[in-house]
Formats: sequence, structure tokens, C-alpha cells
Amino acid sequence: MEKRTNFSSKLGIVLASAGSAVGLGNVWRFPTEVGEGGGAAFILVYILCVVLLGLPLMVAEFIIGRHTHKNTADAYRQLAPRSGWIAQGYIGVFTSWFILCYYSVVAGWTLKYLVEALSGGLGSISDSAAYFKAFSGATWEPLAYMAIVMLMCHLVIIRGVQAGIERSSKLMMPLLLMIIAVLLVFSFSMPGSREGLTFLLKPDLSKLTSSVILSAMGQAFFSLSIAMGCLCTYASYFTDDARLVKTAGSVALIDTVVAVMAGFIMFPAVFSVEAVTPDAGPGLVFITLPHVFRIAFGSVPLVGWFFAVMFYLLLLLAALTSMVSIHEPPTAFLIEHFRLSRPVATTIVTAVCLAVGTLCCLSFGALADCRPLFGLTFFDFFDFVSAKIFLPLGGMIISLFVGWRLDRKIIVGQLTNAGTIRIPAWAVSAFVFLLRWFIPLAMGGIFVKELGII
Ligand code: PHE
Repeated sequence: MEKRTNFSSKLGIVLASAGSAVGLGNVWRFPTEVGEGGGAAFILVYILCVVLLGLPLMVAEFIIGRHTHKNTADAYRQLAPRSGWIAQGYIGVFTSWFILCYYSVVAGWTLKYLVEALSGGLGSISDSAAYFKAFSGATWEPLAYMAIVMLMCHLVIIRGVQAGIERSSKLMMPLLLMIIAVLLVFSFSMPGSREGLTFLLKPDLSKLTSSVILSAMGQAFFSLSIAMGCLCTYASYFTDDARLVKTAGSVALIDTVVAVMAGFIMFPAVFSVEAVTPDAGPGLVFITLPHVFRIAFGSVPLVGWFFAVMFYLLLLLAALTSMVSIHEPPTAFLIEHFRLSRPVATTIVTAVCLAVGTLCCLSFGALADCRPLFGLTFFDFFDFVSAKIFLPLGGMIISLFVGWRLDRKIIVGQLTNAGTIRIPAWAVSAFVFLLRWFIPLAMGGIFVKELGII
């Protein structure tokens, strides 16, 4: 079994954790939700959710991970031996494993679109909706792209914490942030930038229904990678001098800024071409935007080409850094729990994901009618179980665990780095209050909503 290592620097810690948080959720889901949920009013609610719910939960996961320096399953076993809380450790391991199975399908699509953008092929697609349907519904091509991105992720994870996760994050995250800056300049110089920004930012309080508020919470959790075992596993590699609250603050800030910027990039571009209300989710990124790029190609080919290449590269980088963070929890679990070597553990996780990912990938074509579980396709089933059930459930359990069960001395010791940083006592009490009462109630709300009970 390999010797446990830590991240080598504070920068590595922030970039790896931010890499986990910044993902497809920021670039495609957030902007659409803002557009549909009342513009600036939604952004405000979202920020409140990040600060009041997301941040405390992220810190709670960091505390568990860094205190134990163990994979998620063994971390709970150490903190609460022979108790039901151990289940949460396993939920973390398996939820991330589930997410990877369907996340890699979409990551594969982004690679395909990047290849098409690079070759200029995107410029000649006349009906982008039909094109996307044909591609995602095919058998071999989407499978091949999914396998390639899985392999990329595999090659990072197999190298371990410092040479794999940390090095790749230090390379990919700055590149990602640079691309965002370049795309912002492009997008703001487009003729429709005013309409796009108005659509995105017009505060429309009438749209702020309870269901929109709950969506903002769900989006905040998914986007911050909370309750999936990823943050807890990464924190188990944090050094003792890393400041947990500061790190969580930086990660949440980067994640939120990237999400808002993604909206600033996409909507001006979309509205420059036609005043359409963009489709949600995959539609926006794989149907509406290719249409925008094609028109841009038609007028100034080089500009269209550049914008498209940069955009899909951004999406691929965002997806890859998140995939890496989702691969690590099950890998660390197999290494430490079953005493496997890293190459063997990594290969097992990748192989299972490829097998289950194949079912998810074919859900858009050959297996579209195969719905053995709750009448859902495999893709929708894995999405539903992980993001809609285990995410809110896990969030609730983590906050109850750290709020009620974990020894206050451990919490204070982690927050103050064994007494070397000063944190006022009221701040610790406020943190524990949020975990004990506020967050479990809010998470309960999400849970009930996601299951369609209200
Ligand atoms: N936060 C990532 C995103 O925004 C997704 C993710 C979820 C990553 C859970 C890790 C764990 O896309």
C-alpha cells in the first residue's frame, strides 16, 4: 500500500479544491438557472445559500478529512466507531463513484465538441439540434469520447496526490481562469452583449418562488461539490498549516465568480445572434451555442473558430478537474481499506466507471427505452440517485454529525490549527448553530422538493 502523502502547498490545496468545485455545473447549469430564476434576484439568493449553507458544510467536511487523514469511509469509522454514522462515509465513496459514471459521458461530449471546433467542423453544422441528437444517440462515437476522458482522468489519479492531482490542478486551473478572461473580452465586444446582460441580470422578484429558492440551494451544493466525499477526501491530504475557513472561502469565491462569469460569457453571445430564450442544460451548451458559433463563423471565421475552441476547452478543463476529484474518493477507499496499490485501485474504479458509464452513455441511443429502475434511463437514474437523493441526504447527515456528535475540541482544534490561529468563540458557536439547526432544516427542504413531495 502506498504511503499517504499531503498536498505540497497551500496554493495546490486551493487550486485542487477549486478544481473540484468548478465544473460543468458552473458553466452550463448556473447561467440557465439565473436566466430562469429571476436574474440578479436569483444570484443574490444563490450567494446567500453559498455563505450560510455551503461554506459551513465545506468547512465541516474539511474538519473531518484533515482531522482523520483517512478516506471518507474510514474517517467516519474512526470518529464514530460502531455507529450508524459510518454509513455517511460509504455514501460519500459510492455517490462520487456514481457521479463519475454519468459525468464522464457529458465530459466526453465536450471533448467531441472541442475536436469539432478545432477542425472547423462546427462551422458547417446547419441544424445543431439534429446534430447533437444524432451524435449523442450514436453508439461508438460517444462511447469512444467518454473512454478518452476517463483515460485522461485515470492518468492523473494513477500518479497520486502531488504528482497527479496537485500538478494537474496547478496547470489546468490557471489556464481555465485565463480562458474565462479572454472569453469575457470577446463576449462583451459582441453586438448583443447589452440584451444578454439584461436577460441575465434583470432582478425579477416575481420569479423567486420557493421552488426557485430550493433550486438555488441544490445548485449551490452541487457546484461546491458538497456531500460527495470529494472535499473530505481532499482535506485528508491538507497540511496542518492550511487554514480551513480561509481555504473554504477562497474555493467558494472562485466557484461563484466562475459561475457568474460563465453567464456573462454565454448570454451576450447568444443574444448577439438572435433573441432566443436559451434552452436549459445540454441544450444551451451543445445546441444553442454551436448555432451561435456557426453564425459567428459565417461572418468572421477566425473569430468564430477562436471563440468556439476556447469555450469548449474551458468546458473540458472544468469537467476534467471535477472528474479527478470524483475519482479520488473511491480510489483512496480501495487503497486504504483493502490495502491495494494505487495503480490497481485506480484501474478498478476506472473499469467500473467505464462499464456503468457505457450504460449511461447509451441511454441517449441504443438503451433509450431500457428503463429498469424507477422508469428512468440509466443516465437519469444515476443523476437522480446521486444529485437528488444522496447529495441532500449526505449534506444533512454531515451537518448533524459535526454539529451534534463531533467533539467540540476537535472542531476548535481544526478551525484554529491547534490554537495557532485566533478565532472568536462566538464564530465557533455560530458555526455549530448553523450545522445543528439551520442547515439540516434547509437540506430537509431540498430533499422533500427533489423527491417531488411538495
Ligand atoms: N462541482 C462540480 C460542478 O460544478 C461537480 C461535482 C459534484 C464535483 C460533486 C465533485 C463532486 O460541476
